Amino acid sequence: MTAQAHEENGTGSDYAATHLNGHYSEAEAEQPMLDKVQPPCYAQIIGWGYEVPDRVVTNHDLEQVVDTQDEWIRTRTGIQERRVVAVSEETTASLGTQAARKALEVADLHPARVDLVICATSSPEHFFPATASIIQDNLGLINAGAFDLSAACSGFVYALSVARAQILAGDAEYVLVVGSETLSRWVDWTDRTTCVLFGDGAGAVLLAASDVPGGVTASVLGSDGSGAELLTIPAGGSAAPASLETVSSGAHYIQMDGRAVFRFATRIMADATRRVLDKAGVSISEVDLVVPHQANKRIIQHSVLRQLKIPEDKVYVNVHKYGNTSTASIPIALCEAIEEGKVAPGDNLVFVGFGAGLTWGACSVKWSVPIEQPESTWWKNTQRQATYQAAAARSMWKRAVRRIYSQVEPRAMARRPVRRPEEEQPTP
Ligand code: UT7
Repeated sequence: MTAQAHEENGTGSDYAATHLNGHYSEAEAEQPMLDKVQPPCYAQIIGWGYEVPDRVVTNHDLEQVVDTQDEWIRTRTGIQERRVVAVSEETTASLGTQAARKALEVADLHPARVDLVICATSSPEHFFPATASIIQDNLGLINAGAFDLSAACSGFVYALSVARAQILAGDAEYVLVVGSETLSRWVDWTDRTTCVLFGDGAGAVLLAASDVPGGVTASVLGSDGSGAELLTIPAGGSAAPASLETVSSGAHYIQMDGRAVFRFATRIMADATRRVLDKAGVSISEVDLVVPHQANKRIIQHSVLRQLKIPEDKVYVNVHKYGNTSTASIPIALCEAIEEGKVAPGDNLVFVGFGAGLTWGACSVKWSVPIEQPESTWWKNTQRQATYQAAAARSMWKRAVRRIYSQVEPRAMARRPVRRPEEEQPTP
């Protein structure tokens, strides 16, 4: 139970005294030591969902746009097609909202119970506000904090690690972790070295505090900023604010040294997988499924498959359908692996990713919850629909009230009499 939930139950002060200030209350101090021991806490994935745009762009479509060939793309990357947002209403927040909504539905959790939403993204809705805040509002997560996490394609693994830490620290009970991207809007569609690689989509998981052993059991995170320029969007930040020159030179698009990133990725994916398994006390032979970042099939083959000698049927690959969806690639792949019956309670999973930064990360997961989803009844669906409609109405109402205030307040200020300094009362 979170501090907030305790507050709602009228036990807020006890909770704060015991857990936040690090002091035991007198009543607790008199109890035997055993009662003070907290039940073991684990961070379990209890919900999952993904969303991809309907529009499919095949390699043959790209042959019409740039000097490329389906054969080149398939043999060098494994990609056959990708999804691309088609209309302006499809954004990083809208895809992320849909994915998160599905994760809540799988867990059958009311949105008001979520404590935190983290959106890992490399293509946020805006610099600020955070895309996570928009998702929070869209879903009516009225008790949740929200922030974006930037670690490029490793972002989902980073966010999962942060979410786990929030839960294990007792600061959150339910955390939504979203990876969402519309990188097609940052791609130079005349640059064949990058435009064939990326795709749009979103995936989400819901983490919950649990006393059932397992869940996200360990994580490793890494960064080497000396490789920052290998994969970057050079302009648009404080180093090179938007100007006519940055726009005309294409400096707002993704630029990449593909070969260098490839070399780094093949080394680091195997290394990070090894290290996280060591931390979790799981041997490579005990791994049931690796869900790697889906950037390039050859990277996966050269790293987890060859270096770690993990058999092909234990490594999930769907890069042929979606291309590289950055932070969304691991949660989308996880959802599809679940749909295909490749995940079962008791399984040892590894999520491993790499990306710009350069960054990398891995999480080990002991899957400990049933895969069966609750039956979706007519009544349940109606209830959910009503909850989301209420969230939309609430958001509209708050915006309207703010608009009214912004119009009324300046007039009220103008009417307020101005006091001369001698009329001011001295402050006691
Ligand atoms: O989330 C992290 C994101 N980034 C990555 O994961 C990227 C990692 N790198 C890669 O996946 C690979 O390096 C690429 C797929 C980007 C490129 O594959 P490669 O085997 O490393 O090709 P290359 O860059 O060495 O280029 C080989 C040739 C070049 O021609 P020349 O110089 O040998 O004549 C390229 O110009 O292939 C050419 N080429 C293409 N040809 C047809 C590059 N892109 C294309 C293309 N179609 N789309």
